[in-house]
Amino acid sequence: MDSLSNPPSFQFPAGFAWGASTSAYQIEGGWDADGKGPSVWDTFCHQGGGRVFQNQTGDVACGSYTQWEDDLKCIKQLGLTHYRFSLSWSRLLPDGTTGFINQKGIAYYNRIIDDLLANGICPLVTLYHFDMPQAVENQGGWRSDKTVEIFNEYARFCFDTFGNKVKFWITINEPHVVAEYGYEQGLIAPGVTDPGIGVYHVGHNMIKAHAKAWHTYHLLFKEKQHGQVSISLDSDWAEPFDPSSVKDQEAVQRYLAFNLGWFAHPVFINGDYPPLMKSQISSKSKQQGFMDSRLPEFTDEEMKMIQGTADFFCLNYYTTRKVKHQDSSHTKPSIKADQDADAIQDPSWPVPGIEWLAVVPWGLRKLLKFIKDTFKDPEIYITENGFAQIDPAPLDDSQRWEYFRQTLSEILKGVHVDAVNLKGYFVWSLLDNFEWHYGYSQRFGLFHVDFENPKLPRTPYRSALEYKKVISQNCL
Ligand code: BGC
Repeated sequence: MDSLSNPPSFQFPAGFAWGASTSAYQIEGGWDADGKGPSVWDTFCHQGGGRVFQNQTGDVACGSYTQWEDDLKCIKQLGLTHYRFSLSWSRLLPDGTTGFINQKGIAYYNRIIDDLLANGICPLVTLYHFDMPQAVENQGGWRSDKTVEIFNEYARFCFDTFGNKVKFWITINEPHVVAEYGYEQGLIAPGVTDPGIGVYHVGHNMIKAHAKAWHTYHLLFKEKQHGQVSISLDSDWAEPFDPSSVKDQEAVQRYLAFNLGWFAHPVFINGDYPPLMKSQISSKSKQQGFMDSRLPEFTDEEMKMIQGTADFFCLNYYTTRKVKHQDSSHTKPSIKADQDADAIQDPSWPVPGIEWLAVVPWGLRKLLKFIKDTFKDPEIYITENGFAQIDPAPLDDSQRWEYFRQTLSEILKGVHVDAVNLKGYFVWSLLDNFEWHYGYSQRFGLFHVDFENPKLPRTPYRSALEYKKVISQNCL
C-alpha cells in the first residue's frame, strides 16, 4: 500500500457532484402497474427455483413507483447535488419498442425529473440497468444483433422525451456484469449459461448499442439539449498476488483488460478490444479447435463508430483482488479460463456484508490513477461505490461510515496528489433495496427501509447523517 497517511487537503474540488444511485427494478416495485410490461427480472424472479434468496422478488421493493415523494425527502435530507436513477425500459415501452408508448411511465419519470430540478438537484439517468424488456429478450436479447437497433430506438425515444431536462445520460450500466453473470454464469437475469462464447457476443452487441445511442444523441439532440452521454463500467482493482512474480504481474494486466478494458478500450481508445484480450482468446480458441476466435471482431467501420463514444468516464468501484497466474489451458472455454488468472480476496481485508465485497479503499485510488493513465485522462464520475450490511442492519453503522470515510480520503489523494480529473461521487445506494440474486438479505442503503412494514418507511443510517455533513462542507 503506497497511500500517504494523511490527505494533503480535505477539500473536494469546487462544483463536485455529490450523489447517490438507485436502479428501477431494485426500488420501484409496481412491476405490472399502469401498463408496465414485464422485464427479464420479473420473469427471473417469478420463475422461483431458489435462484434468488428465499425466492424474493422486486414486485414491491421500496415501492418507489408510488412513493417517490419519500425518496425525494431522503435526497433532500442528504443535500445531494445529483441523483442517479434508471428508467425502466418496459415501463416506458412495454414490449421494448416504440410501437406502444406507456404515457403513465412517461408521467412517472417526468415527475421525478421535474421535482429534482425544482429542488436544484441534477438528474443522471441510466437508460438500462439490467432490466431488459422480456419481449426483447424473447427475440434473443443481447445475443441478437437486432437488439442494437432496438436499444438505439429506445435511447432516441428517451432523449427526445426527457432530453430537454436531462443533461447526463448513461446508456448501459455495467455491461461486464450483464454479460458475465447474466449470460455466462446465469446467476442473474436472464439466467443464460453460455460460457466462453455467448458472453462475448453479448458484450459485442452492448458496445455497438451504446455507441449507436451516443451517435444518435450527438447527431440529433446534442446541439439543442447540450447534454453528455456515457456508459457505467464496473471494475475491481487488481494487485499481483506475489508482487515479485512477473507471471502474476502479467496476470494482473490480463485481469484488468478482461474486466475494465473489454469495454473501456473500444470506447475510450480505438474502437477495438484490448490487444491482450484479443490474443488470449484467439490462441485459446485455436488450441480448443475453434475455426475462429470466440471473441467476435468489429469491422473497420464499426471501430470508427465506437471509438470516442463517451463524454465522461463512469466508474463503479466496490473491491480489489490479488491476482495470480493460473494456467487454464486444459479447462473448458469460459471468460475466467481465458484470463489465465485467479482472483483472490486477501483474508485480512474486512468483509462487512456480501461475501465478494472486501473493503479496500486504497484500491479505488489506484484504479482512478490507472484510468487517468490508460484512458486519456478523462473526466471521471464514480457512479457507484458502497458497502453492504447483512440484514438485520443496525441504524448506527459507524463501522460502515469509517469505510466511506477511508474511501473519500483515498479519493482526495487521487485528486490532490495524482491529479485525477474527478468530478463526482455517487453512493450505492440511496435506499436499502432488492440486491439482485441476494434479494433483501444485503442492505446497501444510506436509508434503512423496513420491508416488513407495508408503508416501507425510510430511516437514515448514521452514514447518511455523516455523508450529509461532508456534502454540506464539500470537505472531509
Ligand atoms: C450494480 C448494482 C448493485 C451493486 C451492488 C452493481 O453491480 O450496478 O445494481 O446493486 O453493484 O452489488
